[in-house]
Amino acid sequence: MNADESVHLEQLMFVDDPMETNEPRVHAAWLPPEAFRSLGARRVLVHGDGLLVDTVLYEVSRACARYGGRVWHSPSWDVDVDLVFALRGADELPSSAVRAARSAGELALAEVGDGPLGDEGFLLARDGDVTVVLADAPAGLLYGLFHVVRLCAAAFDPERPPERHRPALRRRMLDHWDNVAVHPVMGQVERGYAGGSIFWRDGRPRGDLARIREYGRLLAASGVNAISVNNVNVARTEALLLTDRLGDVAEIADVLRPYHIRVHLSVTFAAPVVLGGLSTADPLDEGVRAWWAATTRTVYDRIPDFGGYVVKADSEGQPGPFTYGRDHADGANMLAEALAPLGGVVHWRAFVYNHHQDWRDRSTDRARAAYDHFAPLDGRFRTNVVVQVKFGPVDFQTREPVSPVIAAMPATRIAVELQVTQEYTGQQRHVCHLGPWWSEVLRFAPWGPDGRAVADVAAGESGAGGGLVAVANVGDDLFWTGHPLAQANLYAFGRLAWDPRRDPTAVLDEWITLTFPPSATADPDLVRRTLHEIMDDSWRTYERYTAPLGVGFMVNPGDHYGPGVDGYEYTRWGTYHFADRDGVGVDRTRASGTGFTGQYPPYWAQVYESPETCPDELLLFFHHVPYGHVLHSGSTVIQHIYDTHFAGVEEVVAMRRRWRTLNGMIDPAVYERVAERLDEQVRCATEWRDQINTYFHRKSGVPDERGRDIY
Ligand code: GCU
Repeated sequence: MNADESVHLEQLMFVDDPMETNEPRVHAAWLPPEAFRSLGARRVLVHGDGLLVDTVLYEVSRACARYGGRVWHSPSWDVDVDLVFALRGADELPSSAVRAARSAGELALAEVGDGPLGDEGFLLARDGDVTVVLADAPAGLLYGLFHVVRLCAAAFDPERPPERHRPALRRRMLDHWDNVAVHPVMGQVERGYAGGSIFWRDGRPRGDLARIREYGRLLAASGVNAISVNNVNVARTEALLLTDRLGDVAEIADVLRPYHIRVHLSVTFAAPVVLGGLSTADPLDEGVRAWWAATTRTVYDRIPDFGGYVVKADSEGQPGPFTYGRDHADGANMLAEALAPLGGVVHWRAFVYNHHQDWRDRSTDRARAAYDHFAPLDGRFRTNVVVQVKFGPVDFQTREPVSPVIAAMPATRIAVELQVTQEYTGQQRHVCHLGPWWSEVLRFAPWGPDGRAVADVAAGESGAGGGLVAVANVGDDLFWTGHPLAQANLYAFGRLAWDPRRDPTAVLDEWITLTFPPSATADPDLVRRTLHEIMDDSWRTYERYTAPLGVGFMVNPGDHYGPGVDGYEYTRWGTYHFADRDGVGVDRTRASGTGFTGQYPPYWAQVYESPETCPDELLLFFHHVPYGHVLHSGSTVIQHIYDTHFAGVEEVVAMRRRWRTLNGMIDPAVYERVAERLDEQVRCATEWRDQINTYFHRKSGVPDERGRDIY
């Protein structure tokens, strides 16, 4: 390159625009070109080499091409710059801009202190008129870039003090429950509410690599660094991804790699039989171990940075070690042994329970199951096994206590699993912003208020924990997530996985700025205020008009959408509420119930044991109480049910009214899609209100104190 030349977009790897495909136009999510305006108008110097540095260069060049800035890659001559991205270990250059930026960065780093930047961290500091982003590894520069984008003009504020950023959790992973072949019941994406899969269609790769790359970019900008590309329920076609169809997985890995995202695969425990032709999948069988070792080597030959396997075993009909009289540690360790020499991990799910329960049998408690199966195995798992635990003891309900398993396995790497796809929280037809709920879960202190939090367990000692995992909510929908506002949940997941202590309202604010950039929005303050009013408390609103006080699962069986108060009451699934004419709730106490409260460390075991100390919002999860039981709020249980259900619907009506004030302010297609979904939310919330209120009115015979309509 000549001394006076800056880098031009065409010289870089991605010459095509990822959003230009033959498919119908996809609406931008949180990184429309406008979000890069502030960065794109600057003079930017990038110093360092490697695939991820190329990505930084590409992103900066694209922005500069659009907004009039310039970019140089490791120039050996002097340039005037506004922004420097530099790797600390990269060669010294004669360029004084790089030298000055680096030494200012080093000084700032010494000032902020607190350990090394690590392989994903970065420093942002000001050096006179220049903003400096410094990292030890290319991934840090990539995350630093998206931080600058998030900050907009604030990244160039002369008064900005230096900041050091490093993710709290090493693995921040999304599990796609995508099927390659359309499942006769679950469809292309199990619990998917955003159209088809972005990876697969009708038994084959979907073929839109540009869309996958764009997805990787969105994920990188939120902090996600791992993804599993197929459903945990692994059927015949999906099993083949491990062998015959490995090329399809490698293709995805190749596209996501420039955004620092490692690909993982859900595998079937029965693979040695169904793929390898062996007569057994016994984890202690030498032939089985050899098969896994060889198969895994082949995977790494093709995908050298492959992340590892995700396994749902002996759960809801999936095969597992129980068939051979072995336990979960035997099963997980066998896979871990195959992966260890290659640097991979096994995510072994703890979602194991009896799904053929007799509803008449009150002694079996599904909430107990994961602990009963896994806690006794603590200490037996290899170091590259991560036990992946759903955040609550039952199944991603709108309100559940935190799973006691998280505190029960100190010698095991634990990953906490959340559900971004809104299976039980409105299925992306309802606005339900989940950041506040996840934040509560991550901050919960299982050993009592002074102890470590859930996020600390997921982080582990010296970063060795299993991290945070979530079931993804994206599909081939034009708005990515069906409900455009559900994008904010995906964004919030990544950001909270990076920093679990971050205020979820601030995270939502970031998403609003990135998605509706002020420079491209008619009345940015109105848009921001309105979105906060609609979304900030929407999870609690959803809770108000659905199942009350933590009891959960009053949904229609099968698709889990809409009210079905007794939908699961007489089924085999272990999710009951036991409402009768006198009261409602599940007695999970040690004194008179299933003993589940005893699975918690002493502080919470005691708090949950008594209705006097149990928090209102979880009362019916832990206790069966009379309708006249008085809550801490001062209301009776029955009156609380009526009040919250009336209030919940009123709040949804207010959401819709507020949204209508944005007509003409934002992309009309986004406006219409949300408006249409809010109509459905009002309809569905009304149905919830009336069915729940009527049901409990009929059961209890207690009238509403305020004489409102109950049918
Ligand atoms: C829920 C969900 C299933 C899913 C399961 C799991 O029960 O309804 O579709 O397979 O969770 O987490 O494995």
